[in-house]
Amino acid sequence: MTDLLKIAVLVSGSGSNLQSIIDQIDQGLLRASIKVVISNNPQAFALERARRHGIPHLAINHLDFASRVDFEAEISARLNPHAVDLIVLAGFMRVLSPGFIRTYPQRIINIHPALLPSFPGVNAQRQAWDYGVKFTGCTVHFVDEGVDTGPIIIQSVVPVYDGDSPESLSDRILREEHRILPQAIRLYASKKLVVQGSRVYIKDGKGHLLPSVQNPPPA
Ligand code: GRF
Repeated sequence: MTDLLKIAVLVSGSGSNLQSIIDQIDQGLLRASIKVVISNNPQAFALERARRHGIPHLAINHLDFASRVDFEAEISARLNPHAVDLIVLAGFMRVLSPGFIRTYPQRIINIHPALLPSFPGVNAQRQAWDYGVKFTGCTVHFVDEGVDTGPIIIQSVVPVYDGDSPESLSDRILREEHRILPQAIRLYASKKLVVQGSRVYIKDGKGHLLPSVQNPPPA
């Protein structure tokens, strides 16, 4: 029996992406174990989701720390005893410093609600709507020392309809986030992801490198 992938999930808000991971684990679709959920926001409903599923969870409020380094040192201190394989940023709204990233090389992934490198930063869904794009989407990528940069693992394309509001578009993107984040974790758990420069490949059974996962836009 291969060991389950041990993951930590960092959150800040409602935790619907966390829930998508919990659900896929519960349904036997994702062979992973969430060892701890950490939120920088003590009010995050994501913490309640963790509690309901008996997952260890805690708030580390960034406002309680004099510096980002001190805040991140506390995160590491609470993370490290779990010896996780992968850290998943699921709606985590704090920028992590290069020093923190270097501590966990290619072991941090993030979900962003746009087709990076388009629309980095906050309110990416609204940025896309304001711009008038015909398609946007979401991205799961390895976190590197930039902000919303790093090798892209999976993207999913989402159409923008004329009658869309920022909210209806965000909802459509979020449904795709809930699909590709667990899929990226599954790929990571399979040990088939290979990063070469800025590109992520998937190794097939014979060790050949396949192009990254392409997700057809939803019907
Ligand atoms: C999602 O769109 C996520 O990409 C963004 O915040 C939204 C809510 O995430 N960062 P969640 O429900 O807290 O997972």
